[in-house]
Amino acid sequence: MSNIDQLTQLIEDAKKAIDEVKSIHELNETKAWYLGKKSPLQAIMKTMKDLSIEEKKELGQKVNECRDQINKLIDDKRVALEEAKILEKLNSEKIDVTLPGKKVARGSYHPLTQIIMEVESIFKGMGYTVAEGPEVELDVFNFEMLNVPKGHPARDMQDTFYINESILLRTQTSPVQVRTLLESKGAPVKILCPGKVYRRDDDDATHSHQFMQFEGLVVDKHITMSDLKGTLKLFVNKMFGEDFQIRFRPSFFPFTEPSVEVDVSCFKCEGKGCPMCKQTGWIEILGAGMVHPNVLKASGYDPKLYRGFAFGIGIERVAMLRHGIDDIRHFYTDDIRFLQQFE
Ligand code: DAH
Repeated sequence: MSNIDQLTQLIEDAKKAIDEVKSIHELNETKAWYLGKKSPLQAIMKTMKDLSIEEKKELGQKVNECRDQINKLIDDKRVALEEAKILEKLNSEKIDVTLPGKKVARGSYHPLTQIIMEVESIFKGMGYTVAEGPEVELDVFNFEMLNVPKGHPARDMQDTFYINESILLRTQTSPVQVRTLLESKGAPVKILCPGKVYRRDDDDATHSHQFMQFEGLVVDKHITMSDLKGTLKLFVNKMFGEDFQIRFRPSFFPFTEPSVEVDVSCFKCEGKGCPMCKQTGWIEILGAGMVHPNVLKASGYDPKLYRGFAFGIGIERVAMLRHGIDDIRHFYTDDIRFLQQFE
């Protein structure tokens, strides 16, 4: 067979071989076989040395053409293989838009958090700012500067967890009153402070060793008890409804004078008397009073110039009344069936 015929045959062979190739890897191997160092093309080139100049030129041209053709065949095949691969991928990844979607479970605010946000928003509307204080508190702030010295009988009702003689888990949010007054250095104060408090208590349906309170404190030059009453009436009406009444009952707190317990008309019977309100028509919701002069004095406010009112609300109690919850422990046992009702 002449060199030229061999080249024509080679192209034919290469065409067939390339046609049958099924992968890029095979294609690379085929390319090496037909165009590499040990390829038939090289063998044909080697015969050149015995040829005349004319023949050399002709054969050289043919070899180049042959190489170009095979190269083109390989390049076309490469493109075809890559396209096929993409197509296959597209087909295998087809999305069925009619399939039902996966449900994304959504969380929600804890019922106590919901109450906190609502109450905060009511008081912010009256110009209050939200304050915070530590849960691990000094005895001085939790008791002493609130007019409850060591040995005071009021401490008996608020036994707590002691870190040492002078550090404890706060029993009430009232120490934030002292902290805020000290920070404000004689300037008027108007704060609301939500937070956790602790007491040494046996847990049952209405008692928990950990619970939450709101502390409110307003101190300025002309604050009176009627400001307190108006504020609390507005709070109750925004929180529970316009028809609700409040009433003040005389009480005792060491850090207020006078002190009151505040009742709201019963949710269930609207004041007629029922088992929920123990036939009184009223339900107790918070403690309050006019800030005791000793508290003002201890925090650097002159009680002859300044007066204030304060109040303390149990957050769980508000939530329980609002939602008709009968056991305080539900708030802390994280039963998803309970929590899902407040989404
Ligand atoms: N700290 C009181 C308690 O835990 C509640 C309270 C009563 C707070 C009267 C006040 C207040 O600010 O004026 O029982």
